[in-house]
Amino acid sequence: MQNNPIWNQLHQKAKQADIKNLEQLWQNPERHQSLTFEFEDLYLDLSKNWIDSEAKNLLCQLAEHANLKDAIEDMFNEQIVNTTDQLPATHTTLRDPHHKNYQSNIQAIFDLADLVSSGTIKTAFGKPVTQLVNIGIGGSYLGPRLVVEALTELQSESHIPVFFAASVDDSLINQLFKSIDIEQCLFCISSKSFSTVETLMNARAVEKKLKQIAGYLPNESQSSLMAITANKNRALEAGIPASMILPFDESIGGRFSLWSTIGFPIVLAAGKEKFKELLGGAYLMDVHYRKQPFNQNIPVLMALMTIWYRNFIGLDAYGCLPYDARLRSLPKWLQQLMMESAGKMHNIKGEVISYPTTPWVFGDHGQLSQHAFFQAFHQGVDALPLDFIGVLEKDSNSQDFLLFNLIAQGAALMQGKEEDHSMKGCPGNKPSTTLLLKSMSAKSIGQLLAMYEHMIYSLAVIWNINCFDQPGVELGKAIARDIQEHVENNTLNEMALDPSTMALIKKVTEQ
Ligand code: F6P
Repeated sequence: MQNNPIWNQLHQKAKQADIKNLEQLWQNPERHQSLTFEFEDLYLDLSKNWIDSEAKNLLCQLAEHANLKDAIEDMFNEQIVNTTDQLPATHTTLRDPHHKNYQSNIQAIFDLADLVSSGTIKTAFGKPVTQLVNIGIGGSYLGPRLVVEALTELQSESHIPVFFAASVDDSLINQLFKSIDIEQCLFCISSKSFSTVETLMNARAVEKKLKQIAGYLPNESQSSLMAITANKNRALEAGIPASMILPFDESIGGRFSLWSTIGFPIVLAAGKEKFKELLGGAYLMDVHYRKQPFNQNIPVLMALMTIWYRNFIGLDAYGCLPYDARLRSLPKWLQQLMMESAGKMHNIKGEVISYPTTPWVFGDHGQLSQHAFFQAFHQGVDALPLDFIGVLEKDSNSQDFLLFNLIAQGAALMQGKEEDHSMKGCPGNKPSTTLLLKSMSAKSIGQLLAMYEHMIYSLAVIWNINCFDQPGVELGKAIARDIQEHVENNTLNEMALDPSTMALIKKVTEQ
């Protein structure tokens, strides 16, 4: 980036004293109007950020310089954008009603969902399915969980209640078995690769449990297990009947996969219409992303703000704070989306880059966060970009309270407060972004999630990295496998590991 003149101008801009002074920045009477954006169900207010129109223009030029427009078209036109795996990234085709993938995707999901809901498909105990357990982790878990929670406020409102088994933990799986009616439960092994150890171990634990129960008689027409995967052969080898496998394409990234058959639990819980509305909302955002100029383009602006803070102002964290319990899983979903996609130190040519990429993303339900870590936002030495996310809904008593709290936090962070006793004062001048959704509808959620997906893609293009691979995650898994094998073969002394790690393994094996 050193040779990029705009990059250098942005560095100069970030050094201007006034750019980090919200009181000064608000001297511009046009500020609020020029930094708020509305599209369909989303209202975005960037005006509480350390930004002015000159910085915004420069950032838009940076996006132009990175050929972001062409890169966006490349993704939508199914060009190879995942250069590591030599694949396109086709998640957007699943929400485009004009694309052939749209119909085949929903048809596969809806056909199976109909068979399950109508009682045509029976569990291996010959009983109708009244519950679903999704066994999956990462992208095969976070997206479906987030949407199921958002669209079925209470489990009792679900058409078919969905439970989730993600990490390997005897205490969790045993607790799950106690909360469900195993004989009427369909266990859905969701795994793109069908080789994720955690998921396969949980699947085996379930199978073992099923086999211990009298009357377990799986056959062609009754099964308590199903699979959603891009690796159909592995699912078949594991004994899942072909009719109970929902495939999806390798070109759909795990963390971008909730729109695919991975969204099957959403359909069971929230219904077919809501799933269509979800895709429809995402499609609206897709069209917006392709068509709008960068200075009006919500996902691009979100990406540019992230780049501004990360690469020029020098802030390294990012807080996601939904003020609605139904969006409580949004921070985790965004964490994977951002940190797995953009946690890279190599550009697409494999060269080590000289600038930081992903910020450390964290967050939680806003109300709970207020009573946990907001103190550090108000009086801590650092500042960090924050997304306050609220839902405008008039039919709920708690909504106004939540929204007033959300609004108050943004105002308090910005305004601060002087006190006679200086230790009680808050310095203010802390930035934040406010994002309001019109309602907790499937359409709004589709827009919100697609917005963050496109924000990540825009970041990756400007940072010149591949956001569709995650080779780093593999290293820890490989070492864990290695340790397990050496322990089983009693060959630990052959392992070339550091003294700390060896001592830890000993602690575990000698207990
Ligand atoms: O965390 C690594 C990862 O590969 C994620 O990218 C993915 O979402 C998750 O594991 C689960 O993978 P799979 O769907 O193949 O089981």
